[in-house]
Amino acid sequence: MGIAGRHIVLVGLMGSGKSSVGRRLAQATSRQFFDTDRIVEETHHQSVREMFETVGEQEFRKRETDALRGALSSETPAVIAAAGGVVLSDVNRGLIRGATQRDTAYVVWLDTEPHELAHRVQRGTHRPLLDADPVGTLEAMSVERHSMYAEVATHVVETNGRTLEEVCTEVAIALGISEGGV
Ligand code: S3P
Repeated sequence: MGIAGRHIVLVGLMGSGKSSVGRRLAQATSRQFFDTDRIVEETHHQSVREMFETVGEQEFRKRETDALRGALSSETPAVIAAAGGVVLSDVNRGLIRGATQRDTAYVVWLDTEPHELAHRVQRGTHRPLLDADPVGTLEAMSVERHSMYAEVATHVVETNGRTLEEVCTEVAIALGISEGGV
């Protein structure tokens, strides 16, 4: 079975392009688009940053698991941008791998060098973990999470030096989506 009955799940570090690529892929394939950060924010009427500051990261991570589970259980195949930290949890990795094992998801890892990410990410947004030392933090995250992204990914697309359009095209090629381009 090809892409038809499967979700397209995008994973990768902050700034790797999950949301931008995901939104565009969803448009091109006429699918619903889910972004776990947005689901958490809409469900709890609070921004990610506010959650880190009030209920704390641990509670945010629980909410993130609920958001991921909900998106993966969507009946119609969707495009899902899974926030950068989703892979930290064994439970979340199990949810994603379960979906691929049931042939209900392909998981694309947008793999990007930390230095390039640091140029792309904007401060003051939904990324409080990058407030202090973006490059150092992204480098540490890249080391810590590399094997976790590798564990869940069914496809890897390198995004270094590529534009949004180019990354979308690479993802489409990797997944065998040909019609009309993205
Ligand atoms: C995080 C990634 C962010 C957001 C939060 C924590 C992480 O999402 O969930 O700031 O730990 O990597 P994006 O990957 O969508 O930026």
